[in-house]
Amino acid sequence: MNAPGLNPLLAVDDLTIGFGGRPAVEGISFSLAEGETLGLVGESGSGKSATSLAVLRLLPPTARVAGGIRFAGAPLLQISEAEMRHHRGREIAMIFQEPMTALNPVMPVGEQIAEAVRAHHPELSRREVAARVVEAMREVALPEPERRMRDYPHQFSGGQRQRILIAMAIVNRPRLLIADEPTTALDVTVQAQILALLNRLRETHNLSMLFISHDLAVVSQVADRVAVMQRGRIVEQGAAAELFHNPQHEYTRRLLASAPTMTTDRRRPLATI
Ligand SMILES: Nc1ncnc2c1ncn2[C@@H]1O[C@H](COP(=O)(O)OP(=O)(O)OP(=O)(O)O)[C@@H](O)[C@H]1O
Ligand SMILES: [Mg+2]
Repeated sequence: MNAPGLNPLLAVDDLTIGFGGRPAVEGISFSLAEGETLGLVGESGSGKSATSLAVLRLLPPTARVAGGIRFAGAPLLQISEAEMRHHRGREIAMIFQEPMTALNPVMPVGEQIAEAVRAHHPELSRREVAARVVEAMREVALPEPERRMRDYPHQFSGGQRQRILIAMAIVNRPRLLIADEPTTALDVTVQAQILALLNRLRETHNLSMLFISHDLAVVSQVADRVAVMQRGRIVEQGAAAELFHNPQHEYTRRLLASAPTMTTDRRRPLATI
């Protein structure tokens, strides 16, 4: 486990995001070291996705963003859009919250992964791009990549579609992967497989990961450290095991008590907080 070093890969400093009215995110700060996974956990509407979209500068133009975000030293909120495009999808990759809408239903999955490669490597030949697609599909343990790259999203299971999105995210060898609720839509068995896959990928590639979930039990399986968000603020932040076994903040305790675990029935409605 990495401690947040003097030069973190990602440093979010006093970030505030407003859409009009009460800020959706209010003065949060956290950092992420190379190879480290930070879990961002909190109930629906606490500002998790808004935070991750701010890092990628993908919030709508109406959003007011204040504070600092540094990635590998670059001030992401200040650099040009051209510089941002260099980071986005290449050095910082994201798995979005809705796996069904993230894939184009009328394009073969291999073509979609290839687009991600070509966006950042226009110099590669068709053959070289195809080789990277197959390699990425193999890395996420999709069977028979040479054949299945021609198939369409609906020809895959939900878990396999999530693997395709992960392949798309890692194909350009990012340094930071932002995963927004990557397992929420999946059943418990498949969820465990995807978590194992993410853990394996971050070890092989020394990947830093910002892992977002409303489920503290899931987060504590992948994260080195966890930040707990409530209504736009970070109320508690610490080592995952420590926070899971010895939560200090009342909200974290309630989150633990209400969250489904790998063993409870996920079809039951969540207790509200
Ligand atoms: N584009 C937007 N326009 C206006 N308000 C927004 C927008 N995006 C988010 N919000 C508001 O910001 C707050 C935080 O939303 P966000 O999507 O970050 O929550 P979340 O923690 O990701 O929730 P969930 O667990 O449901 O995904 C919410 O009150 C939401 O309504
Ligand atoms: Mg969200």
